[in-house]
Amino acid sequence: MKEHFDDPYVKKSQQDGYRSRASYKLLEINDKDKLFRPAMRIIDLGAAPGGWSQVAAKLVGDKATIVASDILEMAPLPGVAFVQGDFTEQAVYEAILAEIGEEKADLVISDMAPNMSGNSSADQPQAMYLVELALDMAAQVLRPGGNFLVKVFQGEGFEEYLKTMRAQFGSVITRKPDASRPRSREVYLLGRQFKG
Ligand SMILES: C[S@@+](CC[C@H](N)C(=O)[O-])C[C@H]1O[C@@H](n2cnc3c(N)ncnc32)[C@H](O)[C@@H]1O
Repeated sequence: MKEHFDDPYVKKSQQDGYRSRASYKLLEINDKDKLFRPAMRIIDLGAAPGGWSQVAAKLVGDKATIVASDILEMAPLPGVAFVQGDFTEQAVYEAILAEIGEEKADLVISDMAPNMSGNSSADQPQAMYLVELALDMAAQVLRPGGNFLVKVFQGEGFEEYLKTMRAQFGSVITRKPDASRPRSREVYLLGRQFKG
């Protein structure tokens, strides 16, 4: 709790009106990689409480389509459609696809992470399962040339996952934004130029 309240990004998010410190991870990645432009079609997976969706909504304007989803509730955000449910359930996966519609998407972002028990032999497979499903969805919805940003935990399965992403995207880069705690095994993989 002390770490949380002393965290400069927590303080900054309260001042700036962002719902989570995670917003600064996306803002930093966007500063470097220019993910957003007006009128994009975006899916935000693991979106609650909504920090990433807030950043996306701000940067893409009111002609954009943003579909956010989480197993938890999320307070409404203007310009963001929300699907609540467990992403590993087929019905939820289908509901997200239905909400984004037939037209292909430009960007899929996933900050999903399971509740960590601290036991990496249980946590890592769960985390990998979520990112594999997120990649599966990205491959279904992205237009050729589209981008996919995903939080992945380094450990068992990471290298294999990176290899799979490399086969599907023109380039894949790794980002570890300052707002990502150094001791966390999380990194962000950005796949650009989906091959389709
Ligand atoms: C780090 S938080 C996301 C923070 C968010 N990007 C933001 O900026 O506010 C990870 C999220 O993944 C969600 N999550 C974990 N497992 C999930 C699942 N099976 N289906 C849907 N969401 C899941 C959690 O509920 C949590 O809200």
